Amino acid sequence: QIARIYADQETFGGKEVTVCGWARTIRDMKTFGFIELNDGSCFKNLQVVMEAEGLENFKDIARQNVGAALVVTGTVVLTPEAKQPLEVKAASIQVEGPSSPDYPLQKKRHSVEFLRTIQHLRPRTNLFSAAFRVRSAAAYAIHNFFQERGFVYVHTPIITASDCEGAGEMFRVTTLNPNDPPRTAEGVVDCAQDFFGKAASLTVSGQLNAENFAMAFGDVYTFGPTFRAEKSNTQRHAAEFWMIEPEMAFCDLAGDMDVAEAMIKSVITEVMAKCPDEMEFFNSFVDKGLKERLEHVASSAFGRVSYTEAIEILEKSGQKFEYPVSWGCDLQTEHERYLTEQHFKKPVFVTDYPKEIKAFYMRANDDGKTVAAADCLVPGIGEIIGGSQREERLDLLEARIRELGMDPADYWWYLDLRRYGSCKHAGFGLGFERLVMYLTGISNIRDVLPHPRTVGSADF
Ligand code: 4AD
Ligand code: MG
Repeated sequence: QIARIYADQETFGGKEVTVCGWARTIRDMKTFGFIELNDGSCFKNLQVVMEAEGLENFKDIARQNVGAALVVTGTVVLTPEAKQPLEVKAASIQVEGPSSPDYPLQKKRHSVEFLRTIQHLRPRTNLFSAAFRVRSAAAYAIHNFFQERGFVYVHTPIITASDCEGAGEMFRVTTLNPNDPPRTAEGVVDCAQDFFGKAASLTVSGQLNAENFAMAFGDVYTFGPTFRAEKSNTQRHAAEFWMIEPEMAFCDLAGDMDVAEAMIKSVITEVMAKCPDEMEFFNSFVDKGLKERLEHVASSAFGRVSYTEAIEILEKSGQKFEYPVSWGCDLQTEHERYLTEQHFKKPVFVTDYPKEIKAFYMRANDDGKTVAAADCLVPGIGEIIGGSQREERLDLLEARIRELGMDPADYWWYLDLRRYGSCKHAGFGLGFERLVMYLTGISNIRDVLPHPRTVGSADF
């Protein structure tokens, strides 16, 4: 692997190696030539030098197209004075699989819009190689963070009968089983009704199930795909995205924010340490100043402000917002971004939102108007985390469920948690793609998802 050669140059210097990878460029200088080989093991390419004299199939190799799969055997030569610290002087090169001359990824800059139309090939570009490597490292860093703190990882179901957020933005699950298909009045086959005995959907959040486990294990987290049939065609909404949802027993809202802040800082630090080449690339080509900003975020306190204070800040800002602000309104992206980018100039938690704009499970505050919610907003994106302390009091939760026109019978098991050893508890949901956008400076969620599913698009 190329990564191992770079990581252990002293050992590999002067030694013979065999590397398998794909040609990013091939330059034929008649008597000699260069190949930039990438095997995906690291961000960097390996420079392969070949000489017409030393290589019997030199002409054939020099004629190969970009994208060809090659097996190269040769000697590692350390080149401390050159641009790259080492190269491989080829003794033999075999073509494992040639590439057609119409290969779409020729060496030039392609727009991200174009690259979205070739999602099967875009992981081979620098941008997407870096993005998906950071995505992988960030996922690992999140597991590390929670595992080191003794959280239990719970796999919550994807198919569910409950709407956690109560927003009705769910994808209905059905089957295509031709045997005994029950039909709706419109003649639509809906076997799920038959299969599960009730209507089922793809989950919008694993929270309610995570709460079940928090009441047994104390500290738990989920990390899985979630789905929203939200017709928001924006840079930060996807129909399928991944969410990290910790849930902590005997924890209040302040403790919830402490964990969220520590988690983000820890992921930033770990990703910067593990992906220096990728972060350097983003810093140079995607978002100048990214590294310095992230380093600062990782080492300074986030802001904390109540919703009521946030509304005052927005009202006094003198800004002309597309959606005017007043107490009670939901914060739009423009408001979130003003708060975090113009006012606080750093990540900020907004707490204690009006109960009308938040989900049924959030704990009622004593003022009768607000709930113990905390959203984390970050510059460039807006909301990255939505969290709250949960309503642990049976009577208040049941009353709230009824007030919202929901049926307590549907939540009998969730209410049971409040009957048997209820305790204060809190949790949050971090949108993983939004975190990856924040870490990389990539501005569109379509470019941090391996195969994005968004309004109007589920190709590949
Ligand atoms: O604020 P949300 O809706 O909160 C919940 O679902 C809670 N049940 C979480 C919890 O407390 N356990 O979503 C949480 C986060 C958002 O802050 C956002 O980062 C992300 O999920 N998110 C989306 N990301 C991409 N595309 C979408 N359509 C998203 N909707 C939410
Ligand atoms: Mg939210």
